[in-house]
Amino acid sequence: MPKTTIRAGSNIAFIKYWGVEDAAINLPQTSSISMTLADAYTTTTVEWQSSSAQAGDQDDDIVIDGRTLRGEAGARVVRHLDRIRALAGTNQRARVASRNNFPMASGIASSASGFAALTVAACQALGLDMNATQLSALARLGSGSACRSLFGGFVLWDRGYDHETSVARMLFLPEHWDLYDLVAIVSHGEKKVSSEGGHRLAATSPLNQARVEHVKTLLPIVQEAIAQCDLEQLGEAIEWDALAMHAVMQTGSPSLLYWQPGTLEVIQAVRRWRDEEGLAAYFTIDAGPNVHVLCAAEDAPTVQAHLAALPSVVDVLVSRPGPAPYAVTDPLF
Ligand code: PMV
Repeated sequence: MPKTTIRAGSNIAFIKYWGVEDAAINLPQTSSISMTLADAYTTTTVEWQSSSAQAGDQDDDIVIDGRTLRGEAGARVVRHLDRIRALAGTNQRARVASRNNFPMASGIASSASGFAALTVAACQALGLDMNATQLSALARLGSGSACRSLFGGFVLWDRGYDHETSVARMLFLPEHWDLYDLVAIVSHGEKKVSSEGGHRLAATSPLNQARVEHVKTLLPIVQEAIAQCDLEQLGEAIEWDALAMHAVMQTGSPSLLYWQPGTLEVIQAVRRWRDEEGLAAYFTIDAGPNVHVLCAAEDAPTVQAHLAALPSVVDVLVSRPGPAPYAVTDPLF
């Protein structure tokens, strides 16, 4: 069996996926919009062995960033491999090695790039004939946001109504807009509640339905802002939705509070630079304490230097819009 190596970029959501309509298939409550990242990616090699396995066995050999994946994280990957085995009608074991070029739990979604790369590599290695839309649906079952990493550039995940229709598609190529994502790392700690668990809690917040409703009006605004490369229009919408999503998290039961003091320091600083220096930079935050700051290419060096000078910022990761998953020639084993 040939081994296959695929690289997939992570993505940063402008309008977030938070809350599930049907947790069994990661059917979201709203559509979402993201940018695939060129410089934050996962590379995954998959080789299917000839020996057989029963579905559910911890028989697959899964290594991420040099360490064998065990426990619930390992079981989640095995469940995904089981789906692919079922599609191909095989019970072969897989050998999987995966490497992120960014720290896990850095506020960059390793599950998005990880499940996108795994899906494409595992299906290709089995010779499954699937198009990007079918792969997007399959990747969504591993991790919702992974369905968006099946496409490059600026991406819409249409919430759809079932497994086949809840898929992502590209809105604009990466070259359409040289928008920078600077991730201000304020904490390297692992998050206590995974986003997988968090999606189920969204409905417990009385603010959730208000956000879901408002997102319906924001989606076309964000799409138009990207079409026009209008950072101000995009920025106002993404800050609103990041704050709204965190308000939902914070007011659910139990309450999820992902922010650290450094989170607020960055938020306040970004708004201060805008007001006082006219620096066009806008923030968004995923399910963690680190802050993504979006700005135009020409402002990126200034924003990066400003962020790095903040007392609670320990690192700044820089990324531009990136391509759809692609094959690389150097396997990881
Ligand atoms: O794909 P998940 O289950 O890790 O959820 C992603 C959740 C957020 O990153 C917070 C938002 C998003 O749309 O990426």
